[in-house]
Amino acid sequence: MYETWEELEKSIVNCQKCKLCKTRQNIVFGVGNKNATVMFIGEGPGADEDRLGEPFVGRAGKLMNMAFEAIGLKREDVYIVNIVKCRPPANRNPEDDEAFACLDYLRNQVILVKPKIIVLLGSVALKNILGKEYGITASRGKWFEKKGIHYMPTWHPAALLRDETKKIDFIKDLKLVMDKLKV
Ligand code: URA
Ligand code: SF4
Repeated sequence: MYETWEELEKSIVNCQKCKLCKTRQNIVFGVGNKNATVMFIGEGPGADEDRLGEPFVGRAGKLMNMAFEAIGLKREDVYIVNIVKCRPPANRNPEDDEAFACLDYLRNQVILVKPKIIVLLGSVALKNILGKEYGITASRGKWFEKKGIHYMPTWHPAALLRDETKKIDFIKDLKLVMDKLKV
């Protein structure tokens, strides 16, 4: 574990801990407020993120930004990160060995940010953070607490692009997060 962002960021440059290093253009480290109260964890970079080096800048990200606006959350106030920091080819799910290799960076980011709340965006984030036994359909919209951090699983923003009805759930879940921030 690194005690500073500088050391952590230096440690990931040229990372070759998993096979995703072979096909990436950019490592997508994370973005936002390094002292955020709320952290969002996605799955892995898509094509736009790989090209630009920033998480959630493509279609799913734009939708997420609109949801943030709707509930009064500012993108620059939260910290946004993914389970894997290099793009899986053809946007497939990250494989277990890739997630395992990359999770140390994420753990270190969580320790440095010290969020009160972590929003888990979709099944990949949920299973890698809380455990394989959790399913997104049953878990979304519910609070889970682990080591003093409150977790809120919800749909992945890309799922909202495929199924409009999930937008209502997504906003509802984010509102629960906003309510918890007030207490
Ligand atoms: N989907 C993700 O899970 N993360 C991104 O950064 C973009 C799309
Ligand atoms: Fe390293 Fe993570 Fe990229 Fe794999 S996905 S090469 S572990 S930064």
